[in-house]
Amino acid sequence: MAITADKIWMDGELVAFADAKIHVLSHTLHYGLGAFEGIRCYQRADGRRAIFRLSEHIKRLFETSHIATIDVPWKAAELENACAETVRANGFQSCYIRPVVFLGHGEMGLGALSNKVRVAIIAWAWDSYLGEEGIRDGIRAKVSSFNRHSVNSSMVKGKINGQYVNSILAKREVMAMGYKEAIMLDGEGYVSEASGENIFVVKDGEIYTTPQGSSILSGITRHTILTLARERGYSITEQRFTRDVMYVADEVFMTGTAAELTPVREVDNRTIGTGKPGPITTELQTAYFDQVKGSAMDHLEWLTFVE
Ligand SMILES: Cc1ncc(COP(=O)(O)O)c(C=O)c1O
Repeated sequence: MAITADKIWMDGELVAFADAKIHVLSHTLHYGLGAFEGIRCYQRADGRRAIFRLSEHIKRLFETSHIATIDVPWKAAELENACAETVRANGFQSCYIRPVVFLGHGEMGLGALSNKVRVAIIAWAWDSYLGEEGIRDGIRAKVSSFNRHSVNSSMVKGKINGQYVNSILAKREVMAMGYKEAIMLDGEGYVSEASGENIFVVKDGEIYTTPQGSSILSGITRHTILTLARERGYSITEQRFTRDVMYVADEVFMTGTAAELTPVREVDNRTIGTGKPGPITTELQTAYFDQVKGSAMDHLEWLTFVE
């Protein structure tokens, strides 16, 4: 489905969708050095809309830019306001928000330093990334033949545009085989993450996820789930695990802003647990949705209301 919106924020002003154009020599288009984020705004149970964990996402956008040696010509607070302004200008109640920092046209060499750093913020209506059926019943996932970036060749803590070629190749590979999502292993063969989500497994009541220090993006949803699970008395261990740990897990689920909390019912044609979302997955998914769009108000620091 083609994405559309009324207004797009570009370099400090809201422009009409049709006018949000860039030059074909934009440096980032050719080489991928840039930074982006994926954020969600939800209409909550009381009818108000709130952007979830906006400041953490904008902080990560600046961290990615720092890793990528790009100086963002805005302050974090200015970009936070711009996200809210973009939601307001489009009249969305619930939407996905995509800030992107990129290098404009000018020089074309890899060593170009003078190209203007540009920022755009786009908002659009986007249902759960892995589908409503996936949210309800769980998805079928497959381990991809593409490894997740090695920590010494790509910057795994950055949401750097060009690095997503790796995720797209993995995703396309498994989609062509009929699976919904790709799971990637690290260079040593341990589970890393999915093409756009972090991974959790549940075994005998304990929750495990791949550690922060490994080849994973520091997911903000991952952090939300760690917090909500610990508040509910679960012990969570951050440790590396092999792919067969998923095969024999009682429950597996994925987390991401786009995918929210999506249960996994099958990995590599092995049924996970009963083949249905398990009790801990369901409890955490309910808790997550209550935070982002329900009535939970115990983490007000996670909400930026858009009046
Ligand atoms: C590779 C990758 N891992 C994990 C995630 C989940 O991150 P978050 O929960 O911050 O959306 C994303 C999405 O941004 C991602 O692209």
